[in-house]
Amino acid sequence: MATNCSASTMAFPSYSRLRPAPALHKRLLLAAWLSALLLGGGSSAAGLGVSPHEGSIPPSSYRRFLLSNGLGRTPQMGWNSWNHFQCNINETLIKQTADAIVSSGLAALGYQYVNLDDCWAELNRDSQGNMVPKAATFPSGIKALADYVHGKGLKLGVYSDAGTRTCSQTMPGSLGHEEGDARTFASWGVDYLKYDNCENTGTSPKKRYPVMSKALLNSGRPIFFSLCEWGQEDPATWAPSIGNSWRTTGDIQDNWNSMISNADQNDRWASYAGPGAWNDPDMLEVGNGGMTTEEYRSHFSIWALVKAPLLIGCDVRSIDKVTLGLLANKEVISVNQDKLGVQGKKVKKYGDLEVWAGPLTASRVAVVLWNRGSSRATITAYWTDIGLKPWTVVDARDLWAHRTLLSVHRQISAMVDTHACKMYILTPRIR
Ligand SMILES: *[C@@H]1O[C@H](CO)[C@@H](O)[C@H](O)[C@H]1NC(C)=O
Repeated sequence: MATNCSASTMAFPSYSRLRPAPALHKRLLLAAWLSALLLGGGSSAAGLGVSPHEGSIPPSSYRRFLLSNGLGRTPQMGWNSWNHFQCNINETLIKQTADAIVSSGLAALGYQYVNLDDCWAELNRDSQGNMVPKAATFPSGIKALADYVHGKGLKLGVYSDAGTRTCSQTMPGSLGHEEGDARTFASWGVDYLKYDNCENTGTSPKKRYPVMSKALLNSGRPIFFSLCEWGQEDPATWAPSIGNSWRTTGDIQDNWNSMISNADQNDRWASYAGPGAWNDPDMLEVGNGGMTTEEYRSHFSIWALVKAPLLIGCDVRSIDKVTLGLLANKEVISVNQDKLGVQGKKVKKYGDLEVWAGPLTASRVAVVLWNRGSSRATITAYWTDIGLKPWTVVDARDLWAHRTLLSVHRQISAMVDTHACKMYILTPRIR
């Protein structure tokens, strides 16, 4: 890590920088945008310095290149069993978790998916080739669990694999059984599939993931499709028409270095995300104990800003006040769920001091001042770096202090503790 905060300035002058070379998918999006513009349909997040399809592609044109299940218009929110429990799951735990998501108030804030990760099924299929819930841990079956979760107003997710076995090696993968598995999931009332990539027989995910995508579309039930091939074949360039989200990184671990590394790898692909199709830097570790409160605040703030899935990964049955204070911050969640759906990016970096920003609806801008260094420091975001005209006057809402600074000119600065961040929504005043 760099140590001199004032000397080296890597400039990221606009949202259009730091992006991989255009892929076919992207050129199609651009073409759609241009034709829509010529036909008079262009609308805008204009003036924010974002590239066309990030801010102003008309939804109807954009949607043609997306998986047509209508899901994920904003990033998915919910809970997943893996980060805290790994294979130690059972139906009692999942029901108690659903109860806790409601009683803690998290459900009312938008956390709706209750997702089983690996290890919920028996190693062997039944004589008809169907997956079978593990008798020892899910004796009532997945349909009964889905009914319970639905009864709480929540949705149920399951996990499978694009290969022959899941990563735990204790469950069958869906390879060769995609249609049957999709029908089974639909008949159980499953709302979400996380699809992993272990034991994949060497075939490219570009070949295997579309098979399940199609099977889910034909299953008769809208099922959110979450691709997980760990970013290995640059899924941002091919997955938007196949899934609702795709992992851009390997598995997150509950520590600072893993978290910032995933944030940076995910940032490369910002321009490919949009409503219905999101980059996924992996699930939240907030509340699992491996980072400080300020590190978890940074983790949650950045995930919200970059329109990452907000999937809680701790034990919500015993969630503490501090953790709940982070995950239940309505104002931060509102940035993640903003209808414009533009992924915020790292726009400026002074050594370990970083400015991340992205446009929101109503010409607003979300900004995170992030201190990744080891000492307290002042960080400044200049309007020209975050897509505002230099003369713009804004009201700045501090999303963690819940205070508004009125009439802020040209820049916003704050003293930020080590590994901490400040997060704002800037609202231009009418001139
Ligand atoms: C269910 O899983 C939880 C979490 O791993 C564990 O504490 C509990 O003992 C398990 N219950 C049963 C009945 O296996």
